This record gives sequence, C-alpha cells and structure tokens, in this order.
Amino acid sequence: MRDAPIPFNRPYLTGGEDAYIAQALGSGHLSGDGAFTKRATAELTSLMGAPAALLTPSCTHALEMAAILLDLRPGDEVIVPSFTFCSTVNAFCLRGATAVFVDCRPDTLNLDERLIEEAVTERTKAIVVVHYAGVAAEMDTINEIATRHGLVVIEDNAHGLGATYRGRGLGRLGAMATQSFHETKNVQCGEGGAVVFTDERFVERAEIIREKGTNRSLFFRGMVDKYRWIDIGSSYLPSEILAAMLTAQLEGFADIQRRRMAIWQTYDHELADWAHSQGVVQPTVPGDREQPAHLYYLLMPDLEQRQGLLAHLAGLGIMATFHYQPLHSAPAGLAHGRTGPGGCPVTDDVADRLIRLPLYAGMTSSELERVVAGVLRFTARPGTPRQRRAAAAARA
Ligand SMILES: Cc1ncc(COP(=O)(O)O)c(C=O)c1O
Repeated sequence: MRDAPIPFNRPYLTGGEDAYIAQALGSGHLSGDGAFTKRATAELTSLMGAPAALLTPSCTHALEMAAILLDLRPGDEVIVPSFTFCSTVNAFCLRGATAVFVDCRPDTLNLDERLIEEAVTERTKAIVVVHYAGVAAEMDTINEIATRHGLVVIEDNAHGLGATYRGRGLGRLGAMATQSFHETKNVQCGEGGAVVFTDERFVERAEIIREKGTNRSLFFRGMVDKYRWIDIGSSYLPSEILAAMLTAQLEGFADIQRRRMAIWQTYDHELADWAHSQGVVQPTVPGDREQPAHLYYLLMPDLEQRQGLLAHLAGLGIMATFHYQPLHSAPAGLAHGRTGPGGCPVTDDVADRLIRLPLYAGMTSSELERVVAGVLRFTARPGTPRQRRAAAAARA
C-alpha cells in the first residue's frame, strides 16, 4: 500500500480554537475590534514587546496601511527586495510609488545592505525589508543608511514572528512592521495580519485608515461624540471570529514553536552530510540572530537539479515547492518599478535553485523521517566548477 501523501503545509490547530470561535459566535459581536481583537492584540504586543499593534485581514492589508501612512506621491521611490512575495511591493505601487529593486545577499537571501545606498535618490522615501525565513536582515546597517537619508524603515515580518537580531525581536527594528497569519505561517487564522508599531506617532492615523478613514475608534472609546470621515482609508478590520482563532494560536505560540523548531533542526542535522557531498547549500543563520523555524530550504546546485528533486519527492508523495520568483523581471515589476544599479543576479540565481521542504507544527515523526529519507535518496549531479565554488563559498 502506498504511503499517504505528505502535504507541503497542514494548518495546525492548538486545540483552543473551537471554544474561542464558539464564544465569539455567542457574544453578539461579530464585526471587528471586539473582545477577541483586544485579546489577540494584547498577546501579540506582549509577544513582540511592541507598544502598539492593529490586527488586519492579511499582511497584504497591513502593508497597504503602511504605504498609506507614508503619504507617498506618484514618483516617490521605495527600496524593496526583488526576492519576496508581490505584496511587499504591490502595496507601495498602489499608492503610485516606484519600486526600486535591490538584490539579495547570497547567504541569508535578504536585501543586500551593501547595495542599498547606491539605489537611494532624492525621491526615495522608505526601505522595505523582508527577513527571509525569519533570519534577520542586516538591520543596524540598514537603519544607519535610513537615518542618513531620512528614510522610513518598514519590516515585512511575515516570516519572522519570535525571531531575534542581536538580542532584539524582529518587528521592532524599523518604524513599523507587518505580520502575516496566513495558514502557511507559524501562527495562523486562515487569513490574517497585523501592523505593529515601534514609532507610536503612526498609531492614531493608522486607526483612522483602518476604519474606512473615520475616527470611529475614538468614538467607541468615548473620546469624540460622533465619528466622521477624516482621512483616506479602507476596511482593514478582521472579524471577531478570526480574532478568536488568532487568540488561541497566539496563546499556543510556545507549543507551536517547540514543534516547528524540532522539525527544522532535524532537517538541518540529518541533511548536513548529504548536502555537503552534493554541493547543496543549507540555510545560513548568522550567530547574532535566532531564526523562528518558519521555513526550511535548500539551495540546489542548479535549476535542473532543483526541478529534479521536486519531481523525485513528488514521486514519493512528498509535496516540496520552490519559492519566490523575482519581482524585478515580473510583468508588474517592470511596469511599476526599476532595478537598482547592478541588477538582481543573486535573486535570479537563488529563485532557480531554492526548494522548500514540508514544515508544519503537526508533522508526525514518520512524515519527517520519510521526507529526510526521500531527500537522502536523491543524488544531485555535480554542478559546473563555478557552481561548486559558489556552493563552497556560501558554506564557508
Ligand atoms: C514576505 C511576505 N510578505 C507578505 C506576504 C503576504 O501575506 P498575506 O497572505 O498575509 O497577505 C507573504 C505571503 O506569504 C510573504 O511571504
């Protein structure tokens, strides 16, 4: 009998979700900003050590709120990575800004801080950073550049809940950060997100933007006697049902992380000799940062072997996947952005070679063993001498 397929992701439930959702359903308050929104927000701010956060229906919406808060005008520029999900960039292009794509580092796959300054112009307003796989970007250097040029730093922290950089939590290292609670993330409510503020100056206006441009939040707090249309905005509140599920997930964060971390470490340990012998590169986690076990990836020697491993695992009923396709050369990237000096050759290269293995908190030990055994059975053809040198340099 064939083994059951192993999915790439299986949304994990902590066990508390049903009761909280039932409580929300019985509460008579199903729209946003009720008791569960307050509870989930308090859990999130305490977990991140942040002064304020606002839940949103997705990280995409949180990024759109961040873009509105920047008051961008057509012609303004925002420095962004090309190796990311389209929402990181789309939110700013929706405001009419031009995306300026900067390449990623070959080790952490994060925005290459050594290339940012050459991409800054008089029109630059912000730098948007993604911490790929929750491994922090070089934030001290990025913040220094931002301060020198008067730019706002926004962390798209979709991957990085619970991770640290030099002892500081991700999502607290720029003016504001955006979180994702999509079902593929460590903490999930199907679809969900949040904007998290380090710079509290943004909070009051953010509440207005989130409430269709009205000051309804102030009205509900009894601070104004009627609410009015004050600013541009949209409908960025998640319902209480989603907030109830999110509360249970956030309360179970330690358990989720323990499970995911054990899987991540098993992959890293069990695949090390194989990777070394095959010219395959495992994730780089510099010693001054902690990763949150959001995803486990391998960099294969070339595209052909990445496709080969994907097909080999699919043949064993194991759903692995590639990750981001470069944005700078995507149709919308070409229409709404330009590439900074030097292009994005590293992004093009890693997008072809990267493979993500299944990783979810409810993964059983037999599923994990099957994935490890499946990968170990794959023999990568040795790459060209140039690719072998690149793999050795990335490992060093
Ligand atoms: C880096 C990054 N930012 C933003 C998003 C969008 O998140 P959401 O689905 O919550 O809108 C994703 C989605 O995976 C992502 O990987």
